[in-house]
Amino acid sequence: MPDLDRDIQDTLASPSGASAQLPLDASAAAAVKLGRSIVVTSGKGGVGKTTTTANLGTALADAGRSVVVVDADVGLRNLDVVLGLENRVSKHLLDVIEEKCSLDEALVRDRVRRNLLLMPAAQNREKDDVPEEKMAQLVRQLQERFEFVLIDCPAGIEQGFRNAVVGAQEAIIVTTPEVSAVRDADRVIGLLPRAIELKLVVNRVRPAMVKKGTMMSVADVNAILRLDLLGVVPDEREIIIATNRGTPVIDIEGSETGAAFRRIARRMLGEEVPIPSFEDKRNFVTRVMSTLGLGRS
Ligand SMILES: Nc1ncnc2c1ncn2[C@@H]1O[C@H](COP(=O)(O)OP(=O)(O)OP(=O)(O)O)[C@@H](O)[C@H]1O
Ligand SMILES: [Mg+2]
Repeated sequence: MPDLDRDIQDTLASPSGASAQLPLDASAAAAVKLGRSIVVTSGKGGVGKTTTTANLGTALADAGRSVVVVDADVGLRNLDVVLGLENRVSKHLLDVIEEKCSLDEALVRDRVRRNLLLMPAAQNREKDDVPEEKMAQLVRQLQERFEFVLIDCPAGIEQGFRNAVVGAQEAIIVTTPEVSAVRDADRVIGLLPRAIELKLVVNRVRPAMVKKGTMMSVADVNAILRLDLLGVVPDEREIIIATNRGTPVIDIEGSETGAAFRRIARRMLGEEVPIPSFEDKRNFVTRVMSTLGLGRS
C-alpha cells in the first residue's frame, strides 16, 4: 500500500507530530513504531566495524529482537562473508534504491536466526552512486519493519561515511587502542550530527600489553574521546577462525570476544552489565596524545 506508506512517513517526518496529518487509518500509523537505527563507524579502516555489526546483530537476534544489518560499504561488501551468507546474495541496496527490486527481494535471511536479515551492498558500484536522501528513506523503511537497523559503515569520512550516517539516530564508535585509530575516531565524532547518540566500543584490547604499559588502556582511550563506554572487546584469534567459517564469533564456545559482544548487546537492550576493566596506571600514551593536541578540552 504505497499511499498509506507515504502518509505514515509524512506523519512520522512531521516535526510537530500534528494529528491533523494523520492518515485516514490513524490506528495503522499509531501502530508503526520505529526501530533503532544505529551506525557502526570508526574513521580508520580495519578496526572491527564489520565484526562488531555482525556479532551485535546476531546477539540481538538471539535476544529475540528483529534485526537487519545493512552493509553500507558499497563497492567492497564484507558483511555477507562474515555472516556466511555470501552465496545467497542476489540483489543489493542499490537495486532497492534504484527501484530495480523490492526490499524483500534484496533482504537475505540468516540460515539459523530467522529474525536476522542482511541488506547486502553492491560490489560493482561506487559509493558516490548512492544518493544520501534515498539512503535515509531506505533506513526509515527498515526501521518500520525491524527493531534494530545496524548499519556497517565503510572506512573514511567521504561519501560512503555520509551515506551510512544519514539515517542513523545512534552511533557506535569502534576504535582500537592505537593512536591513529583514536585520532580518526575523534575526527569522526566531530563530523557526526549533534543529534546522534554516541557510544564507544574499544576493540582488540590486549590486557597483558595494557598491564605492561605497551598498549593504551581503555581509560587512556576514553580520556581522549570522552564517550559513554558501551563495551570492551579483547583481541582474540578465534575471530579469524570464525570469520573464515562464516560464523559469528559469539557462536564459538569459550570465546572471550564472543562473550564481550553478547554483553554489549545486553547493554544495548538496557541491562546493566559490568564492563571488565583493563587499568593501566602509567597513562603514557594519553600524555603523548595531549602533547600532540589531540585531547578534548
Ligand atoms: N577483537 C578482535 N580480535 C582479533 N581480530 C579481530 C578483532 N576484531 C576484528 N578483528 C579482525 O580484524 C580485521 C578487520 O576487522 P573488520 O573487517 O571487522 O574491520 P572493519 O573496521 O570493518 O574494516 P574496514 O574498515 O575495512 O571495513 C578482520 O580480519 C577481523 O577478523
Ligand atoms: Mg568493514
